[in-house]
Amino acid sequence: MKTRVTEIFRIKYPIVQGGFSCYANAKLAASVSNAGGLGQITAATLRTPEKLQEEIRKVVALTDKPFSVNFAFIRDNEKYTELLEVAIEEKVPVITITGTNPQPVFEQLKGENIRTLVLVSGVRQAQKAEALGADAVMAVGQRVRVGLDRNNMKTMALIPLVRDSISIPVIASGRIGDERGLLAALACGVEGIEVHALSLYRSAFKRARYISRHSLHLGMI
Ligand SMILES: Cc1cc2nc3c(=O)[nH]c(=O)nc-3n(C[C@H](O)[C@H](O)[C@H](O)COP(=O)(O)O)c2cc1C
Repeated sequence: MKTRVTEIFRIKYPIVQGGFSCYANAKLAASVSNAGGLGQITAATLRTPEKLQEEIRKVVALTDKPFSVNFAFIRDNEKYTELLEVAIEEKVPVITITGTNPQPVFEQLKGENIRTLVLVSGVRQAQKAEALGADAVMAVGQRVRVGLDRNNMKTMALIPLVRDSISIPVIASGRIGDERGLLAALACGVEGIEVHALSLYRSAFKRARYISRHSLHLGMI
């Protein structure tokens, strides 16, 4: 399947692994990337530059495919500039920015050859991300336990609005669920999906049972 998302991020399928803070480690990210999606590790939970560097190097050892480092809620993390510096030094292929103002991240990334993906929950944020130079946005509607869906809109209602407001590609996020959700999202004009739906990971991730147990615990399934 080819979309601008697969081309820009150099992946086989237009599927991005959700940030999934405590669980998005090198093994998960590399498994998703090896399966043809865009795997992610989360800088916020790694907390120190040394740990982030170690985790990035683990991903690189496990896959030669593109992956992303997720920066979430950076205002709550005083060390984010140091963490971002590590991601730049390690030449990570992609950085995703979620739940926060992306502007300081773009200032620090100026001149670097790193693709960027910004999570947005409305048209204004999408336009701002585009103006800042994002390669694509992820439009998030209602989703579980993560307070990013400020507009409280269903994803399928939100994505056509975002799609019509910008010219960079849009990725749909939030309760996409499975391949039927992917098809519905594509029909709404987006060019990829972000999920941490277990059904999609089961084939790609050997530790799915571990994730399932924890997901049950979190009330996600
Ligand atoms: C426990 C947990 C932690 C999460 N941490 C992050 C995070 O650090 N960064 C992020 O962008 N999204 C995070 N998310 C959101 C998910 O990655 C996912 O993108 C979102 O819930 C959409 O998934 P869905 O397909 O289940 O609706 C988290 C979700 C859960 C349940």
